[in-house]
Formats: sequence, structure tokens, C-alpha cells
Amino acid sequence: MRKWTRREVLKSGVAVPAGIAAGLPASVAAISSSKPAAEEPATGSSAMQAAGADSPRQRLLMDFGWRFHLGHACDPARDFGFDGQGAFAKSGDLFEPSKDKFDDSKWRAVDLPHDWAVELDFVNDPETGDHGYKPLGRNHPETSIGWYRRVFEVPASDLGKRLSIEFDGVFRDAMVALNGHFLGRNLSGYAPFRYDVTDFLNYGGKNILVVRVDVTQGEGWFYEGAGIYRHVWLVKTHAVHVGQWVTQVISDVRPGGNAATVTILTDVDNDSDAESEANVVATIQDASGKLVVRTSPQHIAIPPRSTREVKQQIEVSNPVLWSLEQPHLYRLVTTVEAGGVVVDRDETPFGIRTLRFDPDHGFFLNGQPVKIQGMCNHQDHAGVGSALPDRIQYYRIEKLKAMGVNGYRTSHNTPTPELLDACDRLGMLVMDETRTMSSSPHALHELAAMIRRDRNHPSVIIWSLANEEPDQGTERGARIVASMKRLARRLDPSRPVTTAMDDAWGQGVSAVVDVQGFNYKHGKEIDAFHQKFPQQPTIGTETGSTVSTRGIYANDKEQGYVSAYDLNFPEWAATAETWWTIYATRPFLAGGFCWTGFDYRGEPTPYRWPCINSHFGIVDTCGFPKDDFYYYQAWWTDKPVLHLFPHWDWPGKEGEEIDVWCHSNLDKVELFLNGASLGTQEVKRYSHVAWKVKYAPGTIEARGYKGGQQVLVSNRETTGGPVKIALRPDRQSIQADAEDVSLVEIQVLDQQGRVVPVADNEITFQCSAGGKLIGVGNGNPSSHEPDKADRRRAFNGLCMAIVQSTRAPGEIRLQASSPGLEPATLVIESRNAVPRPSV
Ligand code: GAL
Repeated sequence: MRKWTRREVLKSGVAVPAGIAAGLPASVAAISSSKPAAEEPATGSSAMQAAGADSPRQRLLMDFGWRFHLGHACDPARDFGFDGQGAFAKSGDLFEPSKDKFDDSKWRAVDLPHDWAVELDFVNDPETGDHGYKPLGRNHPETSIGWYRRVFEVPASDLGKRLSIEFDGVFRDAMVALNGHFLGRNLSGYAPFRYDVTDFLNYGGKNILVVRVDVTQGEGWFYEGAGIYRHVWLVKTHAVHVGQWVTQVISDVRPGGNAATVTILTDVDNDSDAESEANVVATIQDASGKLVVRTSPQHIAIPPRSTREVKQQIEVSNPVLWSLEQPHLYRLVTTVEAGGVVVDRDETPFGIRTLRFDPDHGFFLNGQPVKIQGMCNHQDHAGVGSALPDRIQYYRIEKLKAMGVNGYRTSHNTPTPELLDACDRLGMLVMDETRTMSSSPHALHELAAMIRRDRNHPSVIIWSLANEEPDQGTERGARIVASMKRLARRLDPSRPVTTAMDDAWGQGVSAVVDVQGFNYKHGKEIDAFHQKFPQQPTIGTETGSTVSTRGIYANDKEQGYVSAYDLNFPEWAATAETWWTIYATRPFLAGGFCWTGFDYRGEPTPYRWPCINSHFGIVDTCGFPKDDFYYYQAWWTDKPVLHLFPHWDWPGKEGEEIDVWCHSNLDKVELFLNGASLGTQEVKRYSHVAWKVKYAPGTIEARGYKGGQQVLVSNRETTGGPVKIALRPDRQSIQADAEDVSLVEIQVLDQQGRVVPVADNEITFQCSAGGKLIGVGNGNPSSHEPDKADRRRAFNGLCMAIVQSTRAPGEIRLQASSPGLEPATLVIESRNAVPRPSV
């Protein structure tokens, strides 16, 4: 939670007239061919550049073989001498650990992505509560600096190429040195950055990369992790090459959809001292790799040490449009030929689709109305903190899709690139949000990095420039956002911008953004705005939200648990039923993003310590559904849903009244207790049905009817005590590439194989040599057990173990045991795989 009062009313907001720039701009003809302006960084788009067999371009993963050690934020003696005087006196002399003779044998071996915050113990320091009660910040100097060291070889044959190192994201304030030479300092914990290292390398020898990461200052009011928590890449190209993250693909689909003009803008750099003549060819392949169309070579002459922009247009007939149901991806291959040889081959996945926000009818994808059923999310997950192996991004999107979610807001920062790859491939609409509402060079750099990197992802439908900023309603705020929008438009004329506002709608930045965002205030404010500014499209940038704990049915401040009925919400928020009824019944609203899909560490609400994470998630930190999951599934999917709760294990409560609810989209539900009917209720649209039931052990059963037919039955039985363990992996076959993971749900069962909904047995794991246990979790918001451990207590019957492959194919055996329980063993197949090229 921010230091300023959350619902602070903005003081000096100046009302502005309507007529806000609502329409989407820009046919392709309007694309500016201007070069990036000074405030833009040399950084940007898609992570998906791959080497072609015929091209010297290589993109090598640098995730493996790092050494890590904590430093010290105040004491140079415990910070490897850094900040003694003279660190910058001479070039090539930065950081003790940069020295060849430096002994790193006491440093821990780590692979990336890595988050050291998740490895620390929890501490009851209120200052750190919003960040998940981890000892980070100025009060914790001994755990707030992390040093990373990586030794690697570069062959002599690379001399003459261009080499750069790309960081997808480091939290935060990273100082980077290569062979003792200072490459730069990157403050942002979320924006990607890169350094051209051509001049600093030892060719045909050993190179030492050192990164000092400083988290004494955080950025947000939520858990943010610490360290190199995203991938690092070494990129090698010919001196004449497609610039880094400069390619832009914009599709203009003809009405009717039977043809599209694809405009491709790219920059070719000549980093040599001689003029270069080159031919540039763009090829488009479909999802199966089949050639769709190829341009004829475009000839360019590039003076030494210069860049030439190339613009090409291709007609694609009968394009397969990217949609939620069929997220079809094309691949652009840009080939540069110089002196008769292919000197570069750069790949950019993209989609062909249209989007439009309409002030009266909401959002349209490919001309069809789509109500956005969205979730905001932070980026951490159980067991791994913010260092997610790529597969977990897909797991999380799959979970959300199972709930009926079609939209994802990357609150409140530039996301990990692989999250967007998952959204592209699985079909999810993204609101891509930058961290800082500012037109300072730093913030524009961050914004430009996000847009350049992400603008070819078809999943991204809108840029969010701010969240609940104190200046959202002021003229100053309007000026700032206007500058941000100007930059956004120049880098991407195809998408609108919004800001997530929790007040002052119609004032300040409202006049600047294309789509008006609403955080909370579900009701009269939204209608009043729509009436006053009928030309401006609207969207719920942040809505909801119920607070709840999985499997808990009474509030318990001491333990930090909140009941899972759709009843509890902070004073600025609303229940799932309330907000969704409002949004579902207003066609002018494009939809909304509920706070949040997944529980996240930090911002414990409504209770603080011993709570260390939020309760906003519709699924917990492991992805295990809470009961509201089924509310959304009922109203956001077409499948029949009948979800009955709570569980029926209430020893000692015999004869007491228990609230029994059903989330269902059927017509009627009849409830039975031990075979006796307790009556039938009609399901009101966007609502639930409920009974008060005097507890007696046995079975409660719900029978759901549609069109007079019984279509579903759901029951809850009083279980016996915990007897055995079951292991249920999300995938039982993974790739032996040292990156892939299986997320294993551990269930504590009774004799009859039913999950015991109150079981909290501690489960111990043993993983065979072919795999690694990289984290455990259970979704308990008050658990202080370590994430990096070989054991975890079940929480209300469930916990999770995350198993990662090594490069050894074969069987991975995960054994789970607990005193008094029948153990279980899971065999995961680790398939032969070609690991990604790495250095
Ligand atoms: C919002 C804020 C979110 C989170 C949420 C909790 O105001 O944008 O980041 O703090 O409140 O309800």
C-alpha cells in the first residue's frame, strides 16, 4: 500500500471538456518513418529472434553457471570492497569480483531466473509488509545487495561481429561490469536493457560479467523479488544487421477479412567502417512454417556507422486472424544480404487482427464484440517468487482461461516477455502497463522499452500509462500523460492508451487518454462519466474485489484468514457478484480487470502479520481455485457449472447452522442433506444460491437443472482422517532442457480417496537426480515456511511441489511422505530435448 492515503481526493483537478481523443488512429499510411528520438532507448521489441542456419545471428541464453553472493548496502568491507574510494578512477577496474584471480568458490552456484528475496526468512518488520515481510530495504543492509558473477568464453572467430548482452529484467538498480569495464546502471526493476559489449570482450579467451543488484529501494507496494529474475542473453550478429528490437509489423485488415496489408518497418544497422550495400527481403510464414508471401529484395546503401530504415508492404490474402479461439501466429523473417551472402536473418512472430474500442458498444476484436473478462496480476508464484521458469507463465494463463478469463492486466509494470508469448499462443487479451507515470527521461525510457519490445504481440490490445497516480486529475498530470501518449503513438500508432484512475474521472489525464479507465467505484461514477463524456470508450482497469482464503469459511484475524464466501471486500471495492453484474449489464463498458487472478506476496489485506500475502486472488499463490473461481466460471464460460461449498467436515458443529452456497449457471438447484431435500432455488443471473443448513455429518448434495432436466450433481461428503497422499502433476512429461517444470499438486486423502479439506500434514519430498525440486508452496497466506525446502505442510488438503528437469533425459521420481500417511511416488518423464542454444 502506498504511503499516501489510497483514496486521496485529488486537490487541484481542473475540469476539461469532452471531445476526448477516443478513436483509434492510423491507417498504415499514417505511420511515421521518423527515427527514434533522443528520449527513446536503444531497446525494445520481441524476445523471439532466432538464429537461422544461414545467418551469423545467434541468441544465446546466459542463464546457467552463475555465482551469487549477498553483499552489504552500508559496509564496503562486506560488499566486496565496493564504494571504497576509487571504484571509477580508472576504466577497467570496477568491482573486485571482476578480477580474474577473484576466488568465487564460496559464492553459491545459481541458474537464472533467480530471486534471492524468496530465499530469505520472513521477518515481522511492518516496514516490509507490503513487500511480503522479507528483509529488504535500508533497515536490512545485509540482505539488500546481491552480487552475480558469470565467467564465459567467446571464440576468437567472433572478432568483427557485434555482440551485446540483453537483460530481460533485473530487480533492481543493477550495475553491470564486463571485464572490469562499467557498462551501465539500470534502475528499473521491470524494463529490459542491453549493452553492446563488442569493445569490451576478450576474444578467444575468458570474460567476466559482474552484476551488482541493489534493492534498498523498492518500486511498488507489493512483492517485487530481488535479483536477475528474468533471462539474460548474449546476442551475436554480423556488423550489418537488423537493429535490436526495431521491427514493427502492422496489419490493416480489409473489411470482410479476406485480405490484409502488412506493413513492416525495420532498421538495418551498419556497424562497420565501410559503406555497405544490402538487400532486404521480408518473408511471412504461417503457424505451420509454410511460406505465405515474400517481398522482392529492397536495395539499400548504408553509410559506415549508420542505420537505414526499411519499409515494406505485403498483401496477405485470406489471412488467418489471431483470435481468442484461434490464436494464430505468423512469423516474419527479415533477411539481409550483403556481398552475396546472408548476413542476418531476424525473426518476429506477429498476428493479424483488428481491434476497436467503441464508446457505446465496448471492445471489438476482428469486428466481433468481446466483453473483457479480465484479471489484474502481479508476477510472483508459489515456490519461485518472481523468478518464473517460462512454463509457469503458461500454467498461470491456462488456469485463468479455465476460469473464463480472456484478459490480463500486467499491473503495475512491464511484464516478462514470456508472459506475452503465453498470451499470444493461448489467446489472452493484454493490457500492458508501464511502471511510472512520468515524462522524465527515465520513465520515457521505460515506456519506450516496453512498447518497442511488446508492440508485435497480437495479445496486447492497449497500453496503460499509469495507475492511481496522485496527479491523475491535475493539469500537470494531463501534460505528463500527453507526453507519454505522444511517444506511445509514435512507436505504435495501432493501439490506444489508457490510465487506471480511481478518482477525478473527466479531469486531468481523462482528457488525454483514448479509453477511460475505472478502478473500483462500481456504479454511479461510471454511469455519470458515460453520460457526460459519451464519446469516450470506457473500461474497468481494476475492479472487484473479494478477499478470501482457499478452504476457509470464517474470518480469523489472528491467523490471517478470510472466509471464502463472496462477502468480504475492502471499503473501496465490491464482491464478484456486485462488480460483474454492473459490468455485464452495461454494454458501453468494454469489460473489466478484476483485482486479482492470483494471490500474490505482499500487500496483506485485510490482515497484516502473520499474513504475508494478499487475499485478492481468485486462485491462491499455487493456482488452486478458491470458491469464487466457480462464480467466474459460471458467468464467464458456456460450460454448465455447479459448485457446492463449503466442505462438509465440521466436527463439533453438529446442529449448528452452516451457510451452504452454490455457484451455478443452471436454472435451478435443489439441495439435499443426507438424502432429504432442503428445497429448490432459482439461480438469478450473475448471482448464487444459498441455504442455511443444520450440520449433520454425511453428505450434502446439489442437483442442478436446466430446461427441466437434471444436468449436474455436486456433493460434499464428511471425510475420514488423512490416510494417504496423491500426486497430481499438471504435466507428466516434460523436456530434459534444465528449464521445463512440472507443477505437482499434492493432495492429502482419506481412506476412500477423498481430499481431506482440513488436512495440514507436513509432506516431505525426495526428488531423484534427473530432476530438481525448485520450490514448494501451499497457498496459505500466513505460512512462514520456506519456499526453497524439501517439505511443506498441506493447507486445507493441498500443497504444491515444482519439479524442474535437468539435461539428463529419463525418469524423474518424486516421492512424497508424511508420518502416518501412505507415501506416494510420481514418475515424470523427462524427454530428450534440444536445449536452447546457450553460452
Ligand atoms: C488498488 C491498487 C492495487 C492494489 C489494490 C488493492 O488501488 O491499484 O495495486 O493495491 O488497490 O485493493
